[in-house]
Amino acid sequence: MSEFKIFNKSCYTLADLENSTIEALITDPPYGISYQNNYWDKDLPDRQIWNDSFRVLKEGSFGLVFSSIRLMHRLMVDLEDSGFIIKDVLMWAYLNGMPKSRNVGLAIDKELNIKSEKIGEYKYVQGYKKGGADNYKAKTKYKLTPSSELGKKFNGAGLGIKPAYEPIILIQKPIKKAKNVAQNTIINGTDALNLESTRIPYEKGESKVGHNPHPNGRVTANILRTSNFNDGYDKFFLVPKVRQKKDDYNFHPTLKPVSLMFHLTKLITFEKQTILDPFMGSGSTGVACAKLKRHFIGYELDSGYFKIAKTRIEKQNLITNNSIF
Ligand SMILES: C[S@@+](CC[C@H](N)C(=O)[O-])C[C@H]1O[C@@H](n2cnc3c(N)ncnc32)[C@H](O)[C@@H]1O
Repeated sequence: MSEFKIFNKSCYTLADLENSTIEALITDPPYGISYQNNYWDKDLPDRQIWNDSFRVLKEGSFGLVFSSIRLMHRLMVDLEDSGFIIKDVLMWAYLNGMPKSRNVGLAIDKELNIKSEKIGEYKYVQGYKKGGADNYKAKTKYKLTPSSELGKKFNGAGLGIKPAYEPIILIQKPIKKAKNVAQNTIINGTDALNLESTRIPYEKGESKVGHNPHPNGRVTANILRTSNFNDGYDKFFLVPKVRQKKDDYNFHPTLKPVSLMFHLTKLITFEKQTILDPFMGSGSTGVACAKLKRHFIGYELDSGYFKIAKTRIEKQNLITNNSIF
């Protein structure tokens, strides 16, 4: 059974938590890229929270911190300066990322005050909606091609490539020199990745590789995917991004898939250990913890998102000792 403590307040200082009492950190903090103009995503978190997290984690504890390609270097420096070791960077690969779309050729026409040529039209709905334009009030938009010479030269040129992964930084609070790995795991239950619970099973009929292939499958990789690309590459773990659904009460703009949080939670913890998420948003880490019989401590500043997290976590009937602050 899982125990939960969730706080509707700022995580800074983590004053509610004792030193060296928590076995893992899993969090998806603000990326500092003003994603969809969200007020809380203007800056990376202050380094203070990584100092606080370091304080409350046990020696040898692992952490997984989501980040953005553009600013992960800064976050990694903050984590390292707070005392953590950078162990790896996992790559959450998905196929449905959208490139920044801007046809530079058309922008040049506009700059030169030259009308681009209409070559067709299409229906457009703000954001992705299931069923496409047919089921929603759609605007008619024109397909254009550049008219100016320079516009033609740069027709189709854009501002970015398709983003198809998010980095997740694997960190560890170092163990003190006086102890070896086994001694630390015996005392703290940390310093060991749960590789057995996250093996990727072989597919039916697939030939097993290596001298002594493990019957339960391969060790999980640092590229995560759940379904096949059908491209002949090794088996990874791919999780598609979650779409907000029209009727869904969860409107958090950066909601993470529970199946992804499930895998990550399994990877760095064992049953009955406690996971901290200082930036829990709509509570996806907490939902995974409930399903996996892990204890969970979460903070969320925004009361709208906090309510969603509370509802989602309460839906998991496993909660026995549930504390909401
Ligand atoms: C990237 S989102 C997390 C989304 C989450 N992974 C989910 O699946 O819903 C980051 C969250 O951190 C929250 N936040 C920002 N600053 C905070 C602070 N000082 N204390 C607690 N939460 C904070 C934001 O309101 C936002 O919901």
